[in-house]
Amino acid sequence: MATLNINGTTHQVDAPDDMPLLWAIRDIIGLTGTKFGCGIAQCGACTIHVDGQATRSCVLPISAVSGKKITTIEAVGETAAGQSIQKAWLDQEVMQCGYCQSGQIMSACALLSQHPQPNDAQIDAAMSGNICRCGTYPRIRAAIKLAAKEGV
Ligand code: FES
Ligand code: FES
Repeated sequence: MATLNINGTTHQVDAPDDMPLLWAIRDIIGLTGTKFGCGIAQCGACTIHVDGQATRSCVLPISAVSGKKITTIEAVGETAAGQSIQKAWLDQEVMQCGYCQSGQIMSACALLSQHPQPNDAQIDAAMSGNICRCGTYPRIRAAIKLAAKEGV
């Protein structure tokens, strides 16, 4: 049994301690915006925030996040950085197939929360773990810069 605080709501999850958080988010709680890609912390599709830090939920056991504040793509738009990033994503028409994009947005939001005016090196460091097979990287970078310019 784990107590998960997700998007401001507390859930009692009756599952093994070593269940990956991604499984609980998608299959038990029913929030399917967070995606499964590789399952081994290599692609970034499953990125969520734990206490504001971008985190891979596919390798994080639910026992490790009890009492922590978890945010998923469904609620990141309630934050200042989330609003700014989501608007910039639409303005730049970033998405192609869309599969990687919730993870991309979660990483970008964490970046802007910590560095409202990120330089290229900071963008690289924050986003390098998020893979996009459609190659939307130039638009992702442009959207991050637009969001930073317009302010968080
Ligand atoms: S599904 Fe978690 S990093 Fe790929
Ligand atoms: S938009 Fe298709 S994988 Fe990134």
